[in-house]
Amino acid sequence: MSKNERAPVITGNWKMYKTIEQAFQFLESLPAKIGQSQVRVFLAVPFTAIYQVKKKIQELSLPITIGAQNMNDASEGAFTGEIAAVMLQEAGADFVLLGHSERRRLFGETDSFVNKKVLRALSQGITPTLCIGESIEERNAGQTFDVVRRQVMQGLMNIDKNQAAKVMLAYEPVWAIGTGQVATAAQAQEVHRFCREVMHELFDSEVANKVIIQYGGSVKPENAMQLLAQEDVDGFLVGGASLDVDSFSEIIKNCGTVL
Ligand code: PGA
Repeated sequence: MSKNERAPVITGNWKMYKTIEQAFQFLESLPAKIGQSQVRVFLAVPFTAIYQVKKKIQELSLPITIGAQNMNDASEGAFTGEIAAVMLQEAGADFVLLGHSERRRLFGETDSFVNKKVLRALSQGITPTLCIGESIEERNAGQTFDVVRRQVMQGLMNIDKNQAAKVMLAYEPVWAIGTGQVATAAQAQEVHRFCREVMHELFDSEVANKVIIQYGGSVKPENAMQLLAQEDVDGFLVGGASLDVDSFSEIIKNCGTVL
């Protein structure tokens, strides 16, 4: 499968922003701004908004996939404050971000914990977006490929080949997240290509060719097209610029022109 057959996915990661009311305002003004688009639009919204946002997009007939930003690996149990996959599914989430660098860095999530979550999400029929990426110290020490390889290998351990193509990857260099310092198209492409090679090694060429690899880290309307034009960049995970309906819709529209 070539790049042309991997319809791009643009995911907005709202992080800990937007009440239900604010989410509704965003969704109501989005359709007029994006029109018909060939890109697939995903939104990772706060837990508290999933149910209502899902109902809203159905009501507005918006072709948007709704997901969560985290979940626990257990099926249920005494884990105060945690959310299970089955609960996400019931609320209407069809995908979940797992192992975002903010979860790894601020909440101590390890590769093996993330792996258990990936397995749980898949068993519940929720698409996991596995987030990976090196810190600036790791990049400067020449460890980018080692780090990314470890995160993909360990994050996807024990996953059945049939399930593997359902996983999406998001390469987000930590130094590019929220900093305005986007990776160059060449930097993104070389890591994306490498991730595809690791997927080949772990599974097979079919999975490697099919897997959607999104880039994240300071994606803006101005830099999206050049990044998406890269052979192995299949879309974006957008934080800051996804909060504003104008910048998010501009990214979607700009990406449409590259296809
Ligand atoms: P950013 O965040 O677009 O604000 O850099 C990306 C992310 O954290 O997913």
